[in-house]
Amino acid sequence: MQTLTNKRILLGITGGIAAYKSADLIRRLRDQGAEVQVIMTKAACEFITPLTMQALSGKPVHIELLDPVTEAGMGHIELARWSDVIVVAPATANFIARLSHGMADDLLSAICLVAAVPILIAPAMNQQMWLNAATQANIQNLAARGIILAGPASGMQACGETGPGRMLEPLELVAAVNGLFETRALDGKHVLVTAGPTQEAIDPVRFISNRSSGRMGYAIARAAQEAGAEVTLVSGPTAIPAPERVKYVPVKTAEQMREAVLAQAAKQDIFIAAAAVADYRCAEIAGEKIKKTAADLVLTLRKNPDILAEVAQLPRPPYTVGFAAETTAVKENALIKLRSKGLDMIAANRVGDGLGFESDENSLEVLWDGGTISLELTSKDKLARQLIDIVARKYNEKHPPQSY
Ligand code: C5P
Repeated sequence: MQTLTNKRILLGITGGIAAYKSADLIRRLRDQGAEVQVIMTKAACEFITPLTMQALSGKPVHIELLDPVTEAGMGHIELARWSDVIVVAPATANFIARLSHGMADDLLSAICLVAAVPILIAPAMNQQMWLNAATQANIQNLAARGIILAGPASGMQACGETGPGRMLEPLELVAAVNGLFETRALDGKHVLVTAGPTQEAIDPVRFISNRSSGRMGYAIARAAQEAGAEVTLVSGPTAIPAPERVKYVPVKTAEQMREAVLAQAAKQDIFIAAAAVADYRCAEIAGEKIKKTAADLVLTLRKNPDILAEVAQLPRPPYTVGFAAETTAVKENALIKLRSKGLDMIAANRVGDGLGFESDENSLEVLWDGGTISLELTSKDKLARQLIDIVARKYNEKHPPQSY
């Protein structure tokens, strides 16, 4: 089972002998399904070659802060935005000191300043350097700022001494990275997600559908699962594999989706309707393939049930989150939908012109009664995790955990 599917990891390598282990770390992270981009400091290049890291990561290695070629391709701001997490392994005493002081005179430290994602550091240094009051003060400073420390371990050191300062082993670091994505924000909650398009048959070989890829809904299901929820994903036909550790219910039509959702709704804490349900189905499905003899063909369409509105109107509805794909007046239309369907929250996005349905990236305007948050353009996976964080926060406000 891959635990880091679609996760984007920026791996910073600084100049210590443990840098040789970072080569293996890249392999281990990629084995878990992660995409890895490597940033090396100049000192790191003295210990291991960028070519090795490039071959293992399958991507160009970034070294220079002010490199016109790199900046034209993916500059430091973009690299920081690209990532879901920054891992610095090994992190030398010097790098830790510079990070602690907010230096930005090389690419890695500048990215750490720009980044709005978790930063995990794996210190590696001589035991005296680690125990030195200056290093310890820097570490405390970083911890207070929310930077996550992985290690160091104690034991035999490259310099021949024994003590604390050994970098954690690659598999231990992979486990620490896994932990970053497991937020426990929805621990034990039951979350039902719909995703993908629906297909409404015209005859045995034709159907009406839409451009939904299912990516957003699948990313939401995965993010909810990583947040500790028991997730059921009711999905229309898509080309993507079902996320692991999620109860998967494949359907084709809106009516099948409705049935599957209503069968599950009563035991759910949260319902997130990311599916692009076809608004209409054929009033009658032809039993045989329709011949193309007539110049005009008229199909009578009948409105499909609104699954989301139906769930929101249940006597004891789960916390309901809808989506609104709009081409104009995104916020206004979404607010109308929030109120008319009686939802707790709505996530609105602009679609059309390459935005939304078929693209890998998206942006969202998340609205609820009395509040709104804009989530800027980024990968659907990252967006899904941000959305799940907001849903968890708002859900917990509405249903404060019982204290005994
Ligand atoms: O009204 P509109 O189709 O724009 O609403 C979109 C939201 O309603 C989405 O969350 C979608 O999953 C849900 N929906 C539904 N059943 C329908 C139509 C939309 O659950 N028949």
